[in-house]
Order: sequence, then C-alpha cells, then structure tokens
Amino acid sequence: MNVITIEKAGEHEGQEVTVRGWLYNLRESGKLLFPIFRDGTGLMQGVVSQKEQPDAFAALRGLPQESSVEIAGQIRREPRAPGGYEIGVSHVKVVQRVAESEPYPIQLKEHGVDFLMEQRHLWIRTPRQAAILRTRAEIIKAARDFFDERGFTLTDPPILTPAACEGTTTLFPVDYFDEQAYLTQSGQLYIEATAMALGKVYSFGPTFRAEKSKTRRHLTEFWMVEPEVAYATLDDLMKLAEEFISFIVTRCLERRQSDLKIIGRDVAFLEKVAAPFPRITYDEAVEILHKGFAEGKLENKFEWGGDFGSPDETYISSQFDRPVMIHRYPAAVKAFYMEPDPQRPELALCVDVLAPEGYGEIIGGSQRMSSYELLLKRIHEHGLPESAFKWYLDLRKYGGVPHAGFGMGIERAVAWICGLEHVRETIPFPRMLHRIYP
Ligand code: 4AD
Ligand code: MG
Repeated sequence: MNVITIEKAGEHEGQEVTVRGWLYNLRESGKLLFPIFRDGTGLMQGVVSQKEQPDAFAALRGLPQESSVEIAGQIRREPRAPGGYEIGVSHVKVVQRVAESEPYPIQLKEHGVDFLMEQRHLWIRTPRQAAILRTRAEIIKAARDFFDERGFTLTDPPILTPAACEGTTTLFPVDYFDEQAYLTQSGQLYIEATAMALGKVYSFGPTFRAEKSKTRRHLTEFWMVEPEVAYATLDDLMKLAEEFISFIVTRCLERRQSDLKIIGRDVAFLEKVAAPFPRITYDEAVEILHKGFAEGKLENKFEWGGDFGSPDETYISSQFDRPVMIHRYPAAVKAFYMEPDPQRPELALCVDVLAPEGYGEIIGGSQRMSSYELLLKRIHEHGLPESAFKWYLDLRKYGGVPHAGFGMGIERAVAWICGLEHVRETIPFPRMLHRIYP
C-alpha cells in the first residue's frame, strides 16, 4: 500500500496510492461523484464513476460529511482542482460513518463566532483553521531554530511560581499544599538566572495572565518565547529583536506560502519586513500621537507619562510599513526590574516592538537592573515580598553583569503574520476572559 499525504500528491502523478483522511465535501452529478477529501495536509478532489467503480461509488454516495475514509486510486494532474491534482478513486474503506441522524455540526457555510468557539474541537478541521495552526507551528519552529543556530541554550523556567514578574494585578492564584503560589506571567526572572549560568539562553512555554481586558489581542493563557543574554545592552537587544522577527517572517514566506494563501493573507505586507526596523523613542512616539490628535485622527489627547493603549499603538504602527521599535518608556509604567537610562533616570532602558497594520505590541523587553540596592528599593516600592525575590537579588550579588532580554507572544505574532482579526484563532484552544470553551 502506497500511503501518501495530499500535500505531496504531485510527486505521485500516475501512481496508485492510498490517502487516509476524512470526507470534507461531496458533490453528486448523475453517474459521477466528486468527493473532496482532507487528510490534515490539504484538500484533494476525487472522481468516481458509477459505471467504472460501482463499489467505490456505492460506498461514497450519500456518505455524510466528516466520515473517516481510506481511499485508493490514481493521482492525475487536473489544473482546475484545488492543489492541481485529483484522485481517480477505485476503492473506498469507510473507517467510521457519521450518523445521518446526527450530522457534523459545522456546515460549509458561514457560522457565528460564538457557535464556532463552542465547536472549537471541530472548527480546527476547516482548511483555514488548519492552515493557521500549521503556520503557528512554523513560527514556533523558526523561533527555536533562530536561537538554536545562534548559540542560545533552551532553559525551561517553572510554571508554578511563588511571586509576580509582571505586576501583581494579573496573577492566577494556585493553592500549593496550603501555600500561595501563582501561574507564571513570564519566565524572565528565572532565565536571568540561567543566563548567568549559560550566557545566552531562551525559554519557550505557556504563560498566564488574569487580564481583565476583553480585546482581540489578549488571552489569559498564551505562549511566550523569551531570550536572555548576559552582557547585552538595550542596543544589542533591539538588533536581536529585528533579526529575530525578520527571520521568522522570511521563514513563513519560504515555507508556508500555500497556507498563507488559504488564510487569505496579502503577503506583500510581509515581504517588506526586513531589518533594520525604525527606532523611535517614547518621546517621539508621543509627538506622533499629538500630531495625530491635532489632525483629528485620534479621539483623545495622549498625556506624556502614560502607557500606550490599543488605539495609540495602532496609530503609531500605521505610520510605518514594517515593525517599529519604541524605546525608553517612563519607568513608572513599566515593570520593576528595568535598568534606568543613565541620562534620564525617569526612563527605562526598554523596548516594545509594534507590528505594522495595526497589530500593536508583539515584543516587550529591556535591559535589566544591575544595582542590588536599587533593585531592592524597587521591589519594596512595587509592594513585592522581598523574601520571594532573595534568589533574584543574589544574581546582583554574585557576578552581576549588564544583561537584557525580551518576550514575544507567539499568538500576537501568529495573528499578525496570518493577518487575523483576533488572537482566538491563533491557538488550538484559546483561553479568554470569563469563559473557557472546550
Ligand atoms: O510585554 P510583556 O508583559 O513582557 C514580559 O512579560 C517580559 N517579562 C518579557 C521579557 O522581557 N522576557 O509581554 C511580552 C509579550 C508581549 O509583547 C505580547 O506579545 C505578549 O507577551 N503578551 C500577550 N499575548 C497574548 N495575550 C496577553 N494577555 C499577553 N500579554 C503579553
Ligand atoms: Mg509589554
């Protein structure tokens, strides 16, 4: 038995092959059937004639959508078929027949999002959703290849943690044998420790935030890739970030063209993404917002000192055709661990990377505070328990060095690269405010 995948059908032209998958759709036209099969790698049309293949015809006729089937037949070139090849079906084995009384709930028509979210376990079978998930996997693979090829060591931080990393307001509490623990918001503090052990490290894992924001950019459970580099400064970090993003986008253009096409992504936007990216200070970004407000393009006047909201980020990023890096935000709106700018200590040596086309922040990072005394002071100012950060303070006591790192949310990157309206389609089972679907 010559079992092939639909994706590779073109390599088997003229051969007798077997495809294992599901019946995606079925069109009947008199004595001919035109089934469309899917196998997880793509869609392929079949042709069955009643006269020539009576058994196969009988097995497929009236077969409900999403029944699982193993089919055998010959691969033929057919420019009009999706994928450019079709299969002349000679044998059909129905593996599981969907009951007529309980048809597959997702029809090949438009459904509302709420219904689709309830059916997420089935919705992921549709070609567009499957293409998004393949692109997500490619982005993750590209991120790991990027760091692996540059001498970074993957180190896995814990998920159960005793303290906050990104502020206390979005922690998910966990009862840990009668002690209070939390699901991690970021692996950063721990990979600062592994960076002091191994030099260049990265982590990739799930992170959790009890975000009260119901936006198209926020999940309560998301996956973050975080590099951390000993002896790196903010400038080194910005260079790393732009090379990283360019690498991932190039990889998707090389390997996922057909998926981006299924998704309907206009890749012209992605083709422009090449380092170097524009770098502007927070002050310059505020000027852009003030100008936008004066021209009536923004509803509210932005006050220097605040953090950018979604409309602000959208407006700033719309001024550029590639990701833009905004550095040196006021320390007051950022996390406790950031190194102050020696020229203007009220600013932090940090950077946010905003994706173009209104996608907003995809990367947040900074140079880390090196002074033991100042770090201790910040921990107190932020109301954090000193005892839980003793080990973190040790990193400034024993061979402290300048170091820097960033975090990229995989789902934000997938949403932008695939051109999606909402992050809920970027992960197989999204977790959002208030409600857990399947
Ligand atoms: O900017 P954030 O909060 O930075 C950190 O967590 C740092 N400790 C990272 C580091 O320096 N190692 O989050 C980093 C990125 C954001 O830019 C965004 O892409 C993503 O994580 N992110 C979210 N993605 C989906 N849903 C949410 N609620 C997210 N919050 C942050
Ligand atoms: Mg951020």
